[in-house]
Amino acid sequence: MNKQQQGIMQDQNDRNGRTGRAAGVRAAAGWPRAGRVALLAGALAAMACLGGAGRASAQPPMPPAAADDLRPIYATALDVADGRRLAEASCARCHGPDGISSTPGVPHLAGQRAAYLYRELRAYQSGARGDDNMNGMVKFLSSDALVQVSAFYASLDPPQPAGNAPAVPAAPDPAEAGKAAAAACAGCHGEDGVSKTPGIPNLTGLEPQYLVAAMKAYKSGQRKSDVMKAMLATVDGARLDNIALHYALQKPDRAQTPAQGDAAAGKAAATACAGCHGAQGVSGNPASPSLAGQDAQALTAALHAYKDGSRDDPTMKGIVAAFSEAAVKDVAAFYAAQQPAAPNVRKPLTTVEWAERCDRCHGVNGSSTDPRVPALAGQRVGYLERVLRAYKAGSRTSPEMAAMSGVLSDAAIDGLAAHYARQKARAVVYVPVPAR
Ligand code: HEC
Ligand code: HEC
Ligand code: HEC
Ligand code: HEC
Repeated sequence: MNKQQQGIMQDQNDRNGRTGRAAGVRAAAGWPRAGRVALLAGALAAMACLGGAGRASAQPPMPPAAADDLRPIYATALDVADGRRLAEASCARCHGPDGISSTPGVPHLAGQRAAYLYRELRAYQSGARGDDNMNGMVKFLSSDALVQVSAFYASLDPPQPAGNAPAVPAAPDPAEAGKAAAAACAGCHGEDGVSKTPGIPNLTGLEPQYLVAAMKAYKSGQRKSDVMKAMLATVDGARLDNIALHYALQKPDRAQTPAQGDAAAGKAAATACAGCHGAQGVSGNPASPSLAGQDAQALTAALHAYKDGSRDDPTMKGIVAAFSEAAVKDVAAFYAAQQPAAPNVRKPLTTVEWAERCDRCHGVNGSSTDPRVPALAGQRVGYLERVLRAYKAGSRTSPEMAAMSGVLSDAAIDGLAAHYARQKARAVVYVPVPAR
């Protein structure tokens, strides 16, 4: 890049002193009709620094940009004018005359980052991004034309957040909801799920999947307990999941109840159980519950119930069939004395917590400062939802998006789409330096 090609890059809406990081071309009033106007001083350096400080080390860095990727940010005013003509003739009927789409399913392009647009257009051209409509529109365009139309769309004012964008769903915190629903259980199972009452099991240290299955078994009558059936009579669906999540997130501890058997004798008998319940009673398999720290009397009662068939489980029935009464008590005492462990369950993120992670790449409030990473702010909500589901399903692929999108729940996708559709995109402005 020579001196004459350099320009000052200025991000007018960014008052945080981060001038110099932004990219994209905006056709300011009074621009010369021709000539080099938008060459970026240090655009590459800016991107290199973005790859570091702003991102957590867990984020996969963007691969180094090939020179060709960045062609649209070096476009001239003439290129932008050529891009405008192409857009008016071929793209406006779907993407809107000013790059603001009024068609469901068709994204806004106005103010989108230039290198990103160019990359996506080439992806449509090669078939890598699917979409038949877009593939047909760009199949026969030269790469110069793709550069020009990308620069044109990037130069437009970004969309305003839609006034009718849905409110970010106030996703109820499932762990909090579970805590509230579990208030009725504390009297027997303990305030935090650690039992103080002989005969009543701990609810901590157990996989949510196991807890939900156990509750459903009481409700259906498959597992017999009049008390538990009554307790759960009006608890259904998501509330069962929430309760299980609540207990799984509590710190587990040994039940504060006495054990009668001989734990040392029980240890020998328990070797037969290790394959399913774990050597120390912490199970690695959600189908077979952890036994560590469980109330001894509840363990004894469970083993009796398997033995006499009142708790129907062919596996456990076979295993304890030959156990003497003393052996049952001993093995219960052994497990009761073991240290329980929390299952591997994390609290689901709220929309705001998710968005913080997305913003590491997509920029503050989704206004990307890396010309290769799309802005999300102000985009159509339905489009964002559809695209996130496409990444999740793998029908749209991106190494950067793959890690995150795989774990997004439907609720998180809806929340994030609504969140970004409501953000105001920052316009990124380049002020050309007059040639010396
Ligand atoms: C028939 C309607 C139609 C026309 C005409 C059309 N597009 Fe599109 N465009 C779409 C749809 C629908 C999508 C979303 C497709 C998807 O989900 O991949 C899209 C997506 C895009 C994207 C990806 C945007 C993003 O945020 O990832 C770009 C870039 C684009 N179009 C540019 C153009 C250009 C340039 C033209 C003109 C040469 C054009 N389109 C013409 C319908 C159209
Ligand atoms: C009146 C006392 C009492 C209350 C209140 C109570 N439980 Fe229980 N719970 C028990 C007893 C007793 C058992 C053991 C039943 C058996 O023999 O299977 C049990 C067992 C369970 C189990 C099975 C644990 C395991 O290790 O398999 C779950 C899960 C459970 N309760 C959840 C709850 C929830 C959730 C609530 C509140 C909605 C609740 N309980 C309220 C007494 C109670
Ligand atoms: C082949 C795998 C397997 C082996 C081996 C096994 N278990 Fe189990 N165990 C299970 C499964 C699965 C369940 C859950 C059954 C149900 O839903 O009632 C279970 C449940 C239990 C329960 C009830 C826990 C609760 O919270 O209600 C106890 C107690 C238990 N096992 C003790 C033992 C002991 C003691 C041994 C060894 C002598 C043993 N198990 C061996 C698979 C196994
Ligand atoms: C490691 C960096 C990174 C992170 C973190 C990240 N993204 Fe992306 N995202 C990208 C890149 C790069 C693209 C362009 C990929 C492509 O070409 O398909 C992209 C594309 C997208 C698109 C498509 C935009 C369009 O116009 O079609 C959406 C929507 C999106 N990301 C949303 C998110 C959300 C929501 C999160 C957080 C859950 C997130 N991203 C996290 C880098 C990232």
